[in-house]
Amino acid sequence: MRRKIVAGNWKMNTTPAEGVELLKGVAALKGEVPAGVELIVGVPFTHLCCVKDEAAKAGIAVSAQNCADHESGAYTGEVSARMIASLGAKYVILGHSERREYYGETSRTLNAKMALAYEHGLAPIYCVGEKLDEREANKHFDVVRAQIEEVVFNLTPEQFGKAVIAYEPVWAIGTGKTATAEQAQEIHAFIRQVLAEKFGKEAAEQTPILYGGSCKPSNAAEIFGKADVDGGLIGGASLVAADFVAIAKAF
Ligand code: PGA
Repeated sequence: MRRKIVAGNWKMNTTPAEGVELLKGVAALKGEVPAGVELIVGVPFTHLCCVKDEAAKAGIAVSAQNCADHESGAYTGEVSARMIASLGAKYVILGHSERREYYGETSRTLNAKMALAYEHGLAPIYCVGEKLDEREANKHFDVVRAQIEEVVFNLTPEQFGKAVIAYEPVWAIGTGKTATAEQAQEIHAFIRQVLAEKFGKEAAEQTPILYGGSCKPSNAAEIFGKADVDGGLIGGASLVAADFVAIAKAF
């Protein structure tokens, strides 16, 4: 049985105090989430310290949304994987399309970030996904394959065993447009097949592949109902505790 995961990506929202309140709201409703569904909150760096105890008490895992591509040193404004791990986070979101698009992240920087994340015991939630013009040109399989081959294929089998993949079509992020459940299933199955080429069928079968992009309580059940969809990476709807929990209840 593959792990089922619902991960929130708070992006650049909430103050630390508001974040703690949001987390408390999720914790209060967590009893409604089916057993075996893992909840993760992806918080800004400034919140890691403040949400740590509340999250641990509630059994909710914490993720950062990025980490530096260097171990330490003169990199003004950066936050290292070591710093993040020292604050109790278990995960780090890497390769989100907003990071690729607005901050110029490439496979080269992502390989460095992945290596540092593993070195410090963080599991990556590695994001892939095509843009609208790429889907329209029927290039989405090639784009996603390249994003996986150039980064995930560099992992050792042991590292790969801890990775979470998130498929997020860029055209569906924050737009209110969701991939249909069939579109999600088609590309999730493709991702699993690509992973199997490198790591074997058994390892690929164990890898959680999350869907992200305008996932909400009203569409989660249909998307999560597909065989190769193992949960979601939730942006906007993760900022409302009741919606986030309702999505997790969709399993
Ligand atoms: P969204 O964001 O749910 O607001 O579309 C998803 C994401 O970017 O992770």
